Amino acid sequence: MNTNNIPEQILGRIKPGPAEQQRMQEVARRIISLVDRAAAGTGLTDISGMLVGSAARGTWISCEHDLDIFISFPEDTPKQDLKAVGLNIARQVAANADNSEERYAEHPYVHAVFDDFEVDLVPCFRVDSAAQIKSAVDRTPFHNLFILDRIEGLEDEVLLLKQFMKGAGVYGSDLRTGGFSGYLAELLVIHYGSFMEVLQAADSWKPGVTIDIIEHGNKQHNDPLVMVDPTDPARNVAAALTLDKFAGFVDRARQYLDSPAIELFFPSLSTRLSDSGFDNITSNRGTFLMALVFGKPDVVEDVLYPQLFMLHNSITDLLSRNRFTVLNGDVWAGDRETAVVLELEVWRLPPVNKHTGPPVWEKTHAEKFKQKYIEYRGFSEIYIENGRYVVDIQRKYTDAADLLRNEIHSCRLGRNVGESIKLGFKILQGSELLELDNQGFREFLTGFFHLN
Ligand code: CTP
Ligand code: MN
Repeated sequence: MNTNNIPEQILGRIKPGPAEQQRMQEVARRIISLVDRAAAGTGLTDISGMLVGSAARGTWISCEHDLDIFISFPEDTPKQDLKAVGLNIARQVAANADNSEERYAEHPYVHAVFDDFEVDLVPCFRVDSAAQIKSAVDRTPFHNLFILDRIEGLEDEVLLLKQFMKGAGVYGSDLRTGGFSGYLAELLVIHYGSFMEVLQAADSWKPGVTIDIIEHGNKQHNDPLVMVDPTDPARNVAAALTLDKFAGFVDRARQYLDSPAIELFFPSLSTRLSDSGFDNITSNRGTFLMALVFGKPDVVEDVLYPQLFMLHNSITDLLSRNRFTVLNGDVWAGDRETAVVLELEVWRLPPVNKHTGPPVWEKTHAEKFKQKYIEYRGFSEIYIENGRYVVDIQRKYTDAADLLRNEIHSCRLGRNVGESIKLGFKILQGSELLELDNQGFREFLTGFFHLN
């Protein structure tokens, strides 16, 4: 195989052709004129629609028809008016769509589907600089200007990098993925010069690597990658990037530099773990699988996943405080149910629990301890070990699932996850996990055991 023309072959598959590009522009123009017409009917002046994001920069991947259309208001518009009028305009535009729904970020916005185009209609303030933003989305128009100024001729390099990141499973700055955003990919290409130069640089990245294209950063960040936003000196564009996605990209870059292959640009198809596959794996590993399952809260992923991650951490802490050992854990969300899945190294403990008290010479503590345990009928009398009182008592939980069932309410629960767990939950153990007879869950299990 000739590996020199891999980029051309990839671009052949992911670069929109002239017809697709023209259609994208037409749809964008049509929606912007709908915005402008609706704005004219509000009685307020100087409100206008603008196209931002990858569609405005020629850095979108073929077949991904995602239009980011902003409804830009004068800076002095009161926040309440922007919210109300912005939503009103977005609704009027969406009345022409095939379907639409209102979504909530810092301000409400509307997501609408026009044919095969996914359109976000987002109200924002037209401020003088990105350092004076009144809401997070107000930065985006400045990103657009910065990228448009320097991206000419580099669009293909961005497409290659975005697709490569998708293949590595590290593309997307949503809180579930914790990966690289489109804007970050664009800035990396602008800084290093090309797709290949980004990979060569990543080969020697270490956590803490800092890039400041226009050298104006004015804040310390404690993140694996710091890309100072050229439009806002205090912001790290890569703030959402997790250590493991950072490392995953470095690893993939090395792999490509060693032996370039087309496959690296495309995620491998996820396989579904079969019943017998599951039984084999768990019996060979000799571990114990346990899942806390509850109804999926009806909130967007950027709200749900942080709560699931927090629950996962909190459960892992609960288990280890009680001397159970967790080998692996992850969270899963299906259509209606969601789960925290844990693989345990130690899930059963003996009834006896060695309970250590204070040193003998800490007199007041020592007396209290003796008083408390002198009458206690456990497995032993009070004895001394390494200068401390010790007594062998009855362990409260000898089974990890019992512990979880009884103490889940003491875990840190986010608002929506907490409400859902209050309505009910179940704990599945071992092959009971296969009762979650959901194709997505079977794919999740393959990933859970790192089998693809
Ligand atoms: N944006 C941002 N930070 C994020 C997400 C989005 O600053 N974490 C801004 C960027 O200016 C981005 C715009 O919002 O260009 C649109 O976001 P999105 O559609 O997620 O990214 P695109 O750059 O359009 O990339 P893609 O090709 O994946 O759509
Ligand atoms: Mn986009």
